[in-house]
Amino acid sequence: MNDSIHTDTKSINDEELLENDSESTTTLHVQGVSKVYKSPAGTTEVLKDINFSIGRGEFVSVVGPSGSGKSTLLNIIGALDRPSSGKVYIRNIDIFSLSNHDIALMRNNLIGFIFQSYNLINRTSVIKNIEIPAIIAGVERKERAKRALRLLRLLGIEEKANLKPNNLSGGQQQRVAIARALMNSPAIILADEPTGNLDTKTGKDVFNLLKSLSARMRKTIVMVTHNNDLAKETDRTIFMKDGRIEDEKRN
Ligand SMILES: Nc1ncnc2c1ncn2[C@@H]1O[C@H](COP(=O)(O)OP(=O)(O)OP(=O)(O)O)[C@@H](O)[C@H]1O
Ligand SMILES: [Mg+2]
Repeated sequence: MNDSIHTDTKSINDEELLENDSESTTTLHVQGVSKVYKSPAGTTEVLKDINFSIGRGEFVSVVGPSGSGKSTLLNIIGALDRPSSGKVYIRNIDIFSLSNHDIALMRNNLIGFIFQSYNLINRTSVIKNIEIPAIIAGVERKERAKRALRLLRLLGIEEKANLKPNNLSGGQQQRVAIARALMNSPAIILADEPTGNLDTKTGKDVFNLLKSLSARMRKTIVMVTHNNDLAKETDRTIFMKDGRIEDEKRN
């Protein structure tokens, strides 16, 4: 069984699969974002005036105590949730000015999500899981199958194509999730504790894979993590506390 992550230049330098954006400069711009939850017990402000930008090809980590708002922020950037106020621009598109239909299209085409718990569909095969974003985008069957297989090959798990995801190890399942996130060549990859369920070595392998997507292919990545050692290896770290950006540091 091949358990190694394919991070060498030769296997990952697949231009067609991982084409660079032609647009340059800023990929993500978050402007004055706040989020308030209302309940009978009162209102809770979980994000307070968040402002930052991320350039194309940057790999940014977001750290901070549990409950500081990291996942809420990531979900808003990925249009899974709406801000109470403020704007999010992805490639200069004011995403919440779009209709719900266009937000769904934008999310499928511009954003790749990776979650701690993989979020794969266990009743269908690995390859079909990877094809889902392309099915939604209306890519023709042969074309999407070909692309999914090449992504599996790129990530070193092609022999798992026809298995159900729950027959794979955690690290392998996360690689399937990464392949799915790459399927439509998104502008930005959002990863919420992608190594959180993995042992130290496997987590490091998955992290190195993300790092190499960023370094070699200029993929823009935002990763939430509780692992400070991994955060230090990203280009920049955003420190959150009580719903605010407390600090920012280039690594
Ligand atoms: N739907 C909701 N209604 C009310 N409060 C919520 C809701 N969702 C999240 N919160 C609150 O928002 C705050 C931020 O939560 P969030 O999940 O963003 O934290 P986090 O930084 O990702 O934490 P962790 O490191 O534990 O994942 C928490 O206090 C949480 O209880
Ligand atoms: Mg969280």
